Amino acid sequence: MLQGLIKDFPIELKNLQEKILILKREGKINIQNGDIGYASAPSNIALLKYWGKVEKRVQIPVNSSISYTLGGFRSFTKVTALGRFFPTEQVQTINPFSNKLFLNGNLDNEIPAKMDSLIKSILYPFAQEISLKIESKNNFPTACGIASSASGYAALVAAIADLLQLRNHFSDAELILWLTEWARLGSGSATRSCFVSSEVSFIKWESPLDYENGYPVTSALKSHTDWGQLQHCIFILDSNKKEILSSDGHKFADTSPLQSIRVAGIPLRIEMMEKALNEFDFLMMQMLVEEDAYSMHAVMCSGTPKVCYLTADVVKFISLFVKFRNQNKIKAIWTLDAGSNIHILFMPNELQRIKEFHKKIEDILNSKISLLVNQSKEGLVIGRDDYEKIASQNLLLKNL
Ligand code: PMV
Repeated sequence: MLQGLIKDFPIELKNLQEKILILKREGKINIQNGDIGYASAPSNIALLKYWGKVEKRVQIPVNSSISYTLGGFRSFTKVTALGRFFPTEQVQTINPFSNKLFLNGNLDNEIPAKMDSLIKSILYPFAQEISLKIESKNNFPTACGIASSASGYAALVAAIADLLQLRNHFSDAELILWLTEWARLGSGSATRSCFVSSEVSFIKWESPLDYENGYPVTSALKSHTDWGQLQHCIFILDSNKKEILSSDGHKFADTSPLQSIRVAGIPLRIEMMEKALNEFDFLMMQMLVEEDAYSMHAVMCSGTPKVCYLTADVVKFISLFVKFRNQNKIKAIWTLDAGSNIHILFMPNELQRIKEFHKKIEDILNSKISLLVNQSKEGLVIGRDDYEKIASQNLLLKNL
């Protein structure tokens, strides 16, 4: 029996794993040494943020969240099978299951234990026989608050789906369930990066009512067509790696006296945000997103240890931006994930004013600030052809 396998997952996913096992036994899923799976996944920015996990469970969020998909900020992942598959009876101990990760071209000496355990759990039906060489790269700075774990884990899981040829054997609904569940088990926010259509930009990840036995559900939200025009950019105030990864930060959420208050208020906010999405209520959206960013950062700053991304520059940026936006009646919303970089969501005709603000803030903070403008709404892509098509697009992001 392999050690470290994830066991806390819903029956629907167990059934799909069983289906893969049967397909393998029937010889319908064959993987040969050297076979490659390809995928590219977008990142996402949480508009209502997930912060805190249910204790003693695996990757169950204490609160529901809603995100916006960042099609231009992507991970590109290839997984190569190392090992062999036939004849199954003879390969029990031949291939020690050892995965290797090359991140942005460099071999990660030790693959993160969480990633290793996820891969073993997914490949359980095959795990005695193959390991994976994972080559993953991001087209944006890694681990600085642009959810690289979201795009990274979504792309990894989708590349494995390609390797296992799941699109030939699963219905669309089965595939989305398989992807969203495994991605969640890698990184919570990754579950919101698994949708294939460029039409669905708003994703809800609902926490279960029953914390002890329930499972969260990820779904694409319907929204008013005018939200289809929404644009996005990031001001990079700090591209250094985070000191505390969010996967660790969640553990400290409960140490803040503000956490239970925030969590209690989320269901109403989810409802209000869905209404704002349905009615294209921009001002309501602005209020909900900005308040929620402050509320999550208040929890982070008031727990133990304290994780504070509201640096002096960030605070100054936000107050000047809000003033500039309100004076000029610009339709734009700021938010901040776990990192000191500021995301702006805006309507298309506001880009010129945002560029103006960029110049202004560089002067005030007296530093060069990258402004990355998202140029794509593409969702998850699976398979070599689509992977290559999107990898060859050099205008996914514009750096101003
Ligand atoms: O998925 P994780 O474990 O990297 O946590 C993400 C947490 C936030 O980015 C801060 C919020 C969110 O909902 O994405």
